[in-house]
Amino acid sequence: MRLFVAIDIDESIRQRLDDYSQRMKSRVPGVRFVAPGNYHVTLKFLGEVAAARLPELKAALGAIRYPSFSLDVRGVGFFPNHRAPRVFWAGIGYAGGESAGLASLARQVQQALEPLGFAPEQEFRAHLTLARNGSGRPRPVRGERAPEAFAQLSRLVTAEAPPEFGTMTAREFFLYESRLSPAGAVYTRLEGFGLRDGGAGTDAG
Ligand code: 2AM
Repeated sequence: MRLFVAIDIDESIRQRLDDYSQRMKSRVPGVRFVAPGNYHVTLKFLGEVAAARLPELKAALGAIRYPSFSLDVRGVGFFPNHRAPRVFWAGIGYAGGESAGLASLARQVQQALEPLGFAPEQEFRAHLTLARNGSGRPRPVRGERAPEAFAQLSRLVTAEAPPEFGTMTAREFFLYESRLSPAGAVYTRLEGFGLRDGGAGTDAG
């Protein structure tokens, strides 16, 4: 099964992201936008994992002790850059709380999974994917070119003021299964892991 670890987005932010995406979609047809029910912020992509490994994965993630924190969804951008866009994303910022926020939670998830054989990412870049181009991989696949629609989207958003989508408190994260189909990815929550309210520190126990 194909697995990843992610944070979910509050309903009000989801709605604003969807409204924004709909507006962009109407102005730039032909861009493959993510269905609003699929919005999430990935902490770690695990890839293909045998189902028999689920118990050890859940135990490792369940051992993480980390405080809740606020995050800000604002601004949009492109990976790898706006000249050759492949992923259109909304930015995630730290808006306060007991911990250092998302990047350090991603580090904890990485540290919890490393002993199970999951290699670190090259670099964690917090984002919420709104649309994908071609394969959707952050780096171009040989022979693949940015369709004109995506380039047009890039021109449109760089001409506008950065949008603000709202602030929320992250209180849990999830182990997700991703099933790929021609109709698009279907994500299923397999288990949730709570972040503590209040209380400083990220000690285990
Ligand atoms: P993305 O949103 O930036 O595309 C499920 O596929 C989630 O895992 C997506 O959010 C995706 O990020 C993320 N992910 C990270 N690395 C990936 C990879 N190599 N292949 C597929 N998805 C990846």
